Amino acid sequence: MDEIMKTLAEPFRIKMVEPIRMTTGEYRKVALARAGYNPFLLSSDDVFIDLLTDSGTGAMSQAQWAGMMMGDESYAGARSWQALEREVRDLTGMPHVLPTHQGRAAERILYGLIGGPDKVFISNTHFDTTRANIEFTGAEALDLMPAEAFDHTADLPFKGNIDLDLAEKTILEKGPHRIAACVLTVTNNSSGGQPVSMANARGLRALCDRYGIMLVIDGCRIAENSYFVRHREEGFASRDYRSIAQEMLAMGDAFVMSAKKDGMVNMGGLLCLRDEDLSRKCINQLIISEGYTTYGGLSGRDMEAIAVGLREVFDPDYLHYRIRSTAYLGEGLRSRGVPVIWPIGGHAVYIDAHRLFPEIPVHEYPGLVLATQLYERGGIRSVEVGSVMFGKYDASGELIPARQELVRLAIPRRVYTQSHIDFVLEVFEHMLRAPSPKRGFRIVYEPPFLRHFTAHFEPIVE
Ligand code: F0G
Repeated sequence: MDEIMKTLAEPFRIKMVEPIRMTTGEYRKVALARAGYNPFLLSSDDVFIDLLTDSGTGAMSQAQWAGMMMGDESYAGARSWQALEREVRDLTGMPHVLPTHQGRAAERILYGLIGGPDKVFISNTHFDTTRANIEFTGAEALDLMPAEAFDHTADLPFKGNIDLDLAEKTILEKGPHRIAACVLTVTNNSSGGQPVSMANARGLRALCDRYGIMLVIDGCRIAENSYFVRHREEGFASRDYRSIAQEMLAMGDAFVMSAKKDGMVNMGGLLCLRDEDLSRKCINQLIISEGYTTYGGLSGRDMEAIAVGLREVFDPDYLHYRIRSTAYLGEGLRSRGVPVIWPIGGHAVYIDAHRLFPEIPVHEYPGLVLATQLYERGGIRSVEVGSVMFGKYDASGELIPARQELVRLAIPRRVYTQSHIDFVLEVFEHMLRAPSPKRGFRIVYEPPFLRHFTAHFEPIVE
């Protein structure tokens, strides 16, 4: 579209609508109490704007829905599988492509084989399921981000990068033979959806070559990353997004992907490999747990939709809209005085709840206070990424807080319009005008692990 236009108009028309139920503040108060003040436990019917995750929550295009009707449900050698395999080989340059039901299944298969006690994985940041699958094998997972990446206000173009010096130091300290793989997460979800530069990927490739280490790219948001590379990294301004993704993926020995993100589908995953031996071992695991090699955990129609989605996601109008619309929310919040991780990443806006509500002590969960306020005031669902999610206890039962108290507003793909986002901004304005909350929550029930999904809370009132 013409660059002079300031309004960010969605590059699609809406042909099918999903009604959303409007609720009142009174209703939401009750719903929240019923959910034990945990947004995960809300019924989605009670949510107006659902920013819990961008995973599997996107809208498919007419071409994807048309592809679904053409799905070949044959057990072996399905046409839909061949379409997907062709597409993924072309994108990754990797000969061995395994379909899985979602990203973590690909992780479990790969890391189950290359992990194990005494092994070490290094990464810019391991996503939660990646870390869990690695640690489950008895291996260690180390996140190696440069210090400046933790400065939420530093305006740096590639805050998702791995610290290459630290990576080399770690490899030498641990012993290169113990390093099972380097995992480059692109974009870096857990650090704010921040991009990774081509130079950083190239540097990591060189490091892996020097020490004979496998490089895995976790590229579930690889298209979003390509947008940032083209617009922020020298030498890529005239390149198309797909070729940028191809160049980055060419550096990997393996590629794991949750297709629920840039695959533009509601369910699906991929595991791609260069090495034939390893791929044979992975295929055995795939057949035992996911399904036959030509469908993994997926229906033919699902594979057809991923094949189309992986092409659509690189459309320049789509990617521009995608990245700019996330930035629109982030910039809008920042201009209203909300402390956000800066610059804004690709799929989500992260808010520093501790800075927003400085009076709430971390052991009263300021992130949860923000998440519950957003729900109560506007029916907006978000997710706390702080001490509810990552807090631990010491021997005396005292909370060891997380490194930061964040709230993530993740934007589903092609689902909400600009007026929905304007509504979100208005809810923040109302919240900022009201007296700042001073007390938070205490936990009244928590399971032994992954407590954020099912814990119950109660407000602390004095
Ligand atoms: N890797 C990254 C970087 C992810 O963000 C996710 C999922 C996975 C792997 C796992 O994929 O869900 O298909 O099994 N992230 C979602 C989120 C859940 O909300 O950020 P999956």
